[in-house]
Amino acid sequence: MQTHLWHHQDLNEAIHALTEGEVVAFPTETVYGLGANAYCDAAVQKVYQAKGRPSDNPLIVHCHSLSQIQEILGSVSEDFQQLAEQFWPGPLTLIVEVPEGIFPKSVTGGLSTVAFRVPNHPVALDLLKGLSFPLVGPSANLSGKPSPTTAAHVLHDLSGRIAGVLDGGTTQVGVESTVVDLSVTPPMILRPGAITEEMLLSVLPQVYWDPHVFDPITQPKSPGMKYKHYAPDTPVSMVRDEDWDDLVKEVLAHNNRVGILADQEIISLFDEQVTTTYSLTKDYNISRANQHLFSGLRALDAYDLDHIFVQVFPDEGLGKAYMNRLKKAANQQYYHFKQ
Ligand code: TXA
Ligand code: MG
Repeated sequence: MQTHLWHHQDLNEAIHALTEGEVVAFPTETVYGLGANAYCDAAVQKVYQAKGRPSDNPLIVHCHSLSQIQEILGSVSEDFQQLAEQFWPGPLTLIVEVPEGIFPKSVTGGLSTVAFRVPNHPVALDLLKGLSFPLVGPSANLSGKPSPTTAAHVLHDLSGRIAGVLDGGTTQVGVESTVVDLSVTPPMILRPGAITEEMLLSVLPQVYWDPHVFDPITQPKSPGMKYKHYAPDTPVSMVRDEDWDDLVKEVLAHNNRVGILADQEIISLFDEQVTTTYSLTKDYNISRANQHLFSGLRALDAYDLDHIFVQVFPDEGLGKAYMNRLKKAANQQYYHFKQ
């Protein structure tokens, strides 16, 4: 299959393909999503096929507005309405109980709940408004690879496997949406993102964290499989602030082919003649680091390197999303100095 590269002005081509049951990648403010008609089982199956994703992993349903979701569900809870009004369109996904039969099992993974999100991107919103159905939208990468933050990343992974990509430029947020489960009391954060716990607490009286977010060791069954997420082919290690000087010495001594993904100050410690570097941020800015984490991992993975070393950030606020993705990419490994 030839994969078309479309732009905002080609929206009708994308609408046509999606209406025909094809799969089209689209930009959001977080990462690119892999769109298909959420009401059509055959179209949703194509998404799983294109990604190589296990089909028991449920998908997020993308809508253009809260009112579209109200129409689908009949009504929504007070918490749902308040969070939606405060943070949508935006990087927040809300999980609620949904009556059986509205979405095919391929969307829900067989669960009684569905995840909804209204993305904050002009191309995504125009696309969703132009369709008579909502779109499923898992990140538009091959399963296990870092999520795509440009149309080029999508083509790298999925060219020939999907009908088209709508190019909406580089995504702003860079990590996937915060996922909040409203089907439990009190609500539970299942995935950290740019809508932080502190922001949620401005609306909700209470919110819990899914313990798996911080302690992936407790995840049941085939941990190796569960860890391998967001991972480039090159091995990745995290580096604590106090260990960079040791790493500089080690690289000089052993002449390893390494990639460094860190802020400008750390990059300046390395000799750029012999080390491949990618700047996360100029001035230790965590939103910038989130924005560049996946693109940096992808860029460094394209070189022939022995190892990629990545800066850690404090595991708080926006840093929770960063560290959650980085720990998975690094399979929990930290750098330790080898004499
Ligand atoms: O920012 C995002 O959310 C991006 C953009 C494209 O919108 N999408 C995205 O989708 O990250 P995906 O499929 O890569 O991640 C969806 C996450 C998965 O971890 C999935 O297990 C979880 O949401 N999820 C979806 N429906 C769920 C449900 N009913 N119950 C529990 N978890 C659910
Ligand atoms: Mg994903």
